[in-house]
Amino acid sequence: MVLCAVALGSTALALHAGEVPDDEKTGGDTTVYATGRNAFSFPFANLTDAERTRFVIGNSFFKRNWVQAPASTKARDGLGPHFIARSCGGCHVQDGRGAPPDFRNGLMDQPVGLLMRLSVPGQDAHGGPRPDPVYGDQFSNFAIRNVKPEGNITIRHETVNGRFADGTPYTLQKPIYGFAGLNYGPMSLNVMSSPRLAPQIIGVGLIEAIPESEILRNARDQAALGGPIRGMPNRVWDAPSQKHLIGRFGWKANVATLAHQTGAAFQGDMGITSRLFPQETCTPTQKDCLAAPRGAEGKAPEIDDKTFDDVVFYEATLAPPARRKPRDPAVLQGQRLFAQAQCAVCHRPSYVTAEGPFPRLTSPALKGQTIWPYTDLLLHDMGPELADGRPDFLASGSQWRTPPLWGVGLVKDVNGHTRLMHDGRADGVLEAILWHGGEAQASRDTVLRLSAEDRAALVRFVESL
Ligand code: HEC
Ligand code: HEC
Repeated sequence: MVLCAVALGSTALALHAGEVPDDEKTGGDTTVYATGRNAFSFPFANLTDAERTRFVIGNSFFKRNWVQAPASTKARDGLGPHFIARSCGGCHVQDGRGAPPDFRNGLMDQPVGLLMRLSVPGQDAHGGPRPDPVYGDQFSNFAIRNVKPEGNITIRHETVNGRFADGTPYTLQKPIYGFAGLNYGPMSLNVMSSPRLAPQIIGVGLIEAIPESEILRNARDQAALGGPIRGMPNRVWDAPSQKHLIGRFGWKANVATLAHQTGAAFQGDMGITSRLFPQETCTPTQKDCLAAPRGAEGKAPEIDDKTFDDVVFYEATLAPPARRKPRDPAVLQGQRLFAQAQCAVCHRPSYVTAEGPFPRLTSPALKGQTIWPYTDLLLHDMGPELADGRPDFLASGSQWRTPPLWGVGLVKDVNGHTRLMHDGRADGVLEAILWHGGEAQASRDTVLRLSAEDRAALVRFVESL
């Protein structure tokens, strides 16, 4: 049914050539016309047949569960010993967004799509966060048989009440996190933690192909405005190239390349070792973890190079879906408000892509495309309410990367929820705006003064992206 939407989309293109607004094709020629549950799962529209085959192979290793070693399926054993999910798709459900646990029914399952990064003050050898000596740099709430999970994440909420200028009240839920049932003794007293929700991953190959010079230009342009909005790039250690590079991925732009993101996720989230990240994440105190059997009979990294590269290729060629109804009058009104409220200063609409850092891990189809991700890829101080207090390379405890907004309106179709921001605390676009503070305080205040109709138009615009 969605494939048919793709076909219809191209027919519509042929029929109304010239009427299709430039910014409807979110990812240039890579764009797919898709809505519904599979909207985030299509390859670039302009891939070759051979590339499509590679996409399908990568997809299977992204979606299928890894299993505990030893197992008969040698190509997919080695899960854990500690882990958070059994597959990439376990968190990026349908290539989309994880959900924070649902509390409305009074119960709480351990979160999967929401993970906790951990560190103690100081830096590692490359200027990155220094792991907790016992629990490492990420909290693993699951483990294979005969190994203890690290413990449980707890969440409670505080209610934040406010009003729009027209008197309409609103209520936000602020999550407060904790740990319980720690199985390896106490954490460091000065441990810092950062909750992070798995975002949708459409268009990440195109993001990787944004020229570095454009990211630096965003910082210069913002500084030249002379106002409170002053983004700065993160600079992070990139294991594949063994260099410091400008960070682009993650809620704090804490990762520079898809290859690094993928290797770190295999290792940290699933306990799958690779040539880039060959060590299991067991710390010296975690004896049961250290003693557990390894995948690939302990003779090689648990994921081989070719499979690893296919997974990176897969992510890098996931297409951003086209916008829906970009010329609807309310959407156009919202687009004007988006500019007036200075949203577009941080959520920069468009770029022309160059090539990614590792061309063999992606497709030439992504080069030279005009794309509409709505991000500057810079870090911004977003105020104390959003702060996690945990630095990440150059990012401070209150800075976050402006996330791309493409696809935000389709999260509901794909994942059945509308949870936004780094830990999913916002339910829907309007709540997300109400959480903006710090450098974005003036934007938020502008929205507080809008009429109900204008607020709805602004939301309609963001949901059309
Ligand atoms: C336990 C849940 C989980 C699993 C499993 C997982 N991810 Fe993620 N992923 C996340 C979270 C959370 C983030 C944001 C990380 C951050 O901010 O540091 C993320 C970020 C990403 C990003 C960057 C997206 C962006 O726009 O910044 C990519 C790409 C990605 N993951 C790919 C993968 C791949 C490939 C796998 C499998 C090898 C994988 N993920 C497994 C939770 C997960
Ligand atoms: C100073 C830069 C800045 C400005 C101005 C700004 N944003 Fe953001 N926006 C961010 C950052 C940073 C985040 C992520 C914060 C977090 O997750 O804690 C974000 C998150 C969002 C999200 C949630 C995205 C997601 O993937 O969960 C939406 C929606 C959004 N902004 C819309 C807007 C709108 C609409 C405006 C104007 C009213 C606006 N923003 C103004 C920086 C900015």
